[in-house]
Amino acid sequence: MDMLMFELNKDSDKPLYEQLYIGIKKAIISKQIAVGTKLPSKRKLADFLSISQTTIEIAYAQLLAEGFITSVPRVGYFVEQIDELPYVEKDEPSIIITKKEQKQYKYHFSPGKVDEDSFPFSVWRKYAKELFDISSKELLQIGEPQGEYELRAEIANYLFQSRGILCKPEQIVIGSGTEHLLPMILRLFDNDLILALENPGYSAIPRIHLDSNAIPISVDEEGLVVDELETTNANIVYITPSHQFPTGAVLSATRRTQLLKWASKQPNRYIIEDDYDSEFRYIGKPIPALHGLDQNNKVIYMSTFTKSLMPSLRVAYMVLPFNLLIKYKEIFSYYSASVPRFVQHILANFMRDGHFSKHLNRMRKIYRKKHDKVKQILTSYYPEVHITGDQAGMHILISVPTDKSVEELNQIAINNDIAITPVTDYLLKPIEFEYPSFLLGFGGIPLEKIEEGIHLLMKCWGIKKAI
Ligand SMILES: Cc1ncc(COP(=O)(O)O)c(C=O)c1O
Repeated sequence: MDMLMFELNKDSDKPLYEQLYIGIKKAIISKQIAVGTKLPSKRKLADFLSISQTTIEIAYAQLLAEGFITSVPRVGYFVEQIDELPYVEKDEPSIIITKKEQKQYKYHFSPGKVDEDSFPFSVWRKYAKELFDISSKELLQIGEPQGEYELRAEIANYLFQSRGILCKPEQIVIGSGTEHLLPMILRLFDNDLILALENPGYSAIPRIHLDSNAIPISVDEEGLVVDELETTNANIVYITPSHQFPTGAVLSATRRTQLLKWASKQPNRYIIEDDYDSEFRYIGKPIPALHGLDQNNKVIYMSTFTKSLMPSLRVAYMVLPFNLLIKYKEIFSYYSASVPRFVQHILANFMRDGHFSKHLNRMRKIYRKKHDKVKQILTSYYPEVHITGDQAGMHILISVPTDKSVEELNQIAINNDIAITPVTDYLLKPIEFEYPSFLLGFGGIPLEKIEEGIHLLMKCWGIKKAI
């Protein structure tokens, strides 16, 4: 036969052996090469195509494994008879495998970043080292679906001490992030689920729960407007009562009672309390979790180590009321925990020996310094800039009375190497804001860069300091 002629592209993402394998396969299927034809020897084809013999060998091995060719020892490879199958030319799926483009900003005021210079690497390393030892060989086996008991016990203890929550480790489920636990919660309600969400609110939820009937409920300075919730037919409400995300409002005492009453009126009503971003409070006492007030097992509590330790840890947890725990076990007992056991034990031991509370105390001081700095500088621009949501968390909300649109202001910030986040990114339903508003996160930006970053932002927005 003529020598096989293929266009091999050495610059392609596709390895040469794969290009060759696809080329020969297509030729066999389309009968360009007849049944029984002897393929060229590996050496000859390698010379002809100027590629290595190993490349040919891998391509031939693949064709052999799939039955397109057969091998006769010491003679060569021959094209096999294959059943007639229509060959459909398919477009390659256009998955673009490029590295995620993440623009590097000089001033990163993103709300999702934590301080990178204060993580206790040496302590963490000590616990990790201890665990990766033959004495932990039992950890090679699969663990409990709800997560390691030791970690759940530490979390229960922490929740009691710091968040006023009384629960048993048996009620806790560990998962690799809020976005993995939320779908599990929603599944507990099957078809009996009409979800109400805060608007603005955590933008991942509408993406997780694709039901377009999710009901947006307004948020004001007292948090979720419970009166509005009461006018809907929702039976599950997702809420961030201690520190509304992203406005920073705290759900008032009156509304807490009103919300718990709303839930107690129907057996199928529940509240999902997301306690995200509530560890760091700069004014007044910590706000206890709504869960602590609940007398009727109506609150599903969830939280995460994303802000208190690091986002990359991927450890979040939920506390299920006992009645839902039964349903959870029915549905999810065949699922394994989504956080590796080693990670869970490192964290549990870290917490057991008091390092977590030590770290939190240290971080409170660091974030308070950053918070105070951001607030002090922003305040010097009042009334050109208004601030809200400055009592807790790791971002402050700013609104800017100007003629420019949110998009324009955002683009100007980007052009000047500054990352900020428009509140409009968190809308489930459009809201008419009086002025363009943004989240200014201060967790990740080094203290010494805050001042120049904010001054630059104001300068490029054309905002001058009050005299
Ligand atoms: C309200 C809220 N909850 C949870 C999360 C994310 O938590 P995790 O990192 O555990 O998925 C976010 C992230 O922005 C959030 O805004």
